[in-house]
Amino acid sequence: MSKTQKTFFITTPIYYASGDLHIGHLYTTTLAWTIANYKKLKGFDVKFLTGSDEHGQKIANKALEFNQNPQTYVDSFAKKYQKLWDDFGIDYNFYSRTSSKFHSESVKKIFSFFLTKGFIYKGKYEGLYSVPDEEFLTKTQAMLKTDGQYYHPSSGHCLELVSEESYFFKMSLFTNWLLDQINLNEKWMNPKKIVKELKNNFLFKGLEDLSVTRTNVKWGIKIKEDTNHTIYVWLDALCNYITALGFDIKNSDENFVKYWQNGDEIVHILGKEISRFHFVYWPIFLKALNIKQPTRLIGHGWIITPNGKMSKSKGNVINPYELLSKYHKEMIKYYLVSQINIGEDGIYEENHFKEVINSDLINNYGNLVSRTLKMIFSIFKNGVKFKEIKLEIHNNIEKKILDSVLEYQNLFDDFKIDEAMKIAIKLSSHLNKYIDETKPWTFKEKSEELEIILSRALNGIYAVAVFLSVVLPIKMQEVITDLGLTKISLENITNFYKFDNIKQAEKFILFERIK
Ligand code: MSP
Repeated sequence: MSKTQKTFFITTPIYYASGDLHIGHLYTTTLAWTIANYKKLKGFDVKFLTGSDEHGQKIANKALEFNQNPQTYVDSFAKKYQKLWDDFGIDYNFYSRTSSKFHSESVKKIFSFFLTKGFIYKGKYEGLYSVPDEEFLTKTQAMLKTDGQYYHPSSGHCLELVSEESYFFKMSLFTNWLLDQINLNEKWMNPKKIVKELKNNFLFKGLEDLSVTRTNVKWGIKIKEDTNHTIYVWLDALCNYITALGFDIKNSDENFVKYWQNGDEIVHILGKEISRFHFVYWPIFLKALNIKQPTRLIGHGWIITPNGKMSKSKGNVINPYELLSKYHKEMIKYYLVSQINIGEDGIYEENHFKEVINSDLINNYGNLVSRTLKMIFSIFKNGVKFKEIKLEIHNNIEKKILDSVLEYQNLFDDFKIDEAMKIAIKLSSHLNKYIDETKPWTFKEKSEELEIILSRALNGIYAVAVFLSVVLPIKMQEVITDLGLTKISLENITNFYKFDNIKQAEKFILFERIK
């Protein structure tokens, strides 16, 4: 690894170790993993973190319900989640667990540091709390229904009244600092509409101090100063992003120094419902720790079903394994990152899934690869050579290939992943059209023109394979191997002579058509 290689650290939220994950979670993890793969393609030294959030009242209650001790309970989920990512071919560098000893010790020290710096004081919390969201709410934020109960305004969960001694973090000290940072860096947080909402609902009003310990929750990190108190699960959980890299208030591990402190890019991907914690509290905690900020915070929309948000009561929760039993894992991942606009909610519907896969991957790209290889094999057993020619139809397709390399990167660099994927499929459509118009199948024997067409088709197929390799690494490696090459690289796309003296496989089938 050369020293000049830039670093890239990307994270998913750490998921509550209290239930089976569904396609919404799979969506987030796939997005982050795809971006990690793209950054690797661009030559970055990449680290990818996912994990589980294992403390708090919600999990303690669940463990109790199943008559298990909380540690055994979360251990079983952490294992399940890791298996899910393995089964989907999603590899990561850090699996962060908040019940780990290192994390707990590090967070205790963070708490003590805040206390000695005067950012934290002791008081009493009287107000509302949502256990499923692990979120404090004021009466004005909550929704009062006719049954006399308060409810969470977006999740709809019933709130309980809490009255207990608590330590508070002086968020109020940092409101203006955060507003300035947001204004200084347009691209820092996305989507803009969420940032606007947070500004209007919280920042412009001035932040209220945040309760950061609980006395009635035993399953959590006990503070050193007052062992009756456990640390509020969000302070605990957010810190995972740095403790997993080995952050310690005095003596951090080299991973923290390399990928965070001296790192080039740090990106958090998260669902929109937890943007307040990531866009407001997390930057403030980091500022209070005097640690550099992440370079990008990206909130994404939800996957919903045709009959609305997934929920147990509606019985419309989509289990990733249900899809995996029917479809190739790379089809599922492709669908998720290519069909959902990152800032918006997206509807998952199985018929649409089938249509997209059949159309993009099978009829469009799959067909392009198989028809090209078939034509080459029948006439050019030793492969084709690239030759320059000044003829519009051929120059046009060359230009489309070259332009797509730039467009793809511009979109990806701006985290417009679905649009970047569409560039790949659009190029594949252009190549199919090029073949339809030049009609290479009408040539019965070797000719210069036929070689001109097929060498361009091969170069285009290679470009699409490189673009798609960030989400279909297994299948695209197969394509590239059958094209007779091994290397998957963006730079290699622009070298049109790479297939000279290279033989291709006789035939290729990307996927069988889905019925
Ligand atoms: N434990 C917290 C996160 C702490 S991060 C320091 C948490 N966990 S969670 O298990 O509830 O996972 C929430 C995340 O799962 C969302 O932010 C999002 O990334 C993903 N999703 C859950 N449901 C989803 C959809 N329906 N659609 C898309 N993503 C969804 O919150």
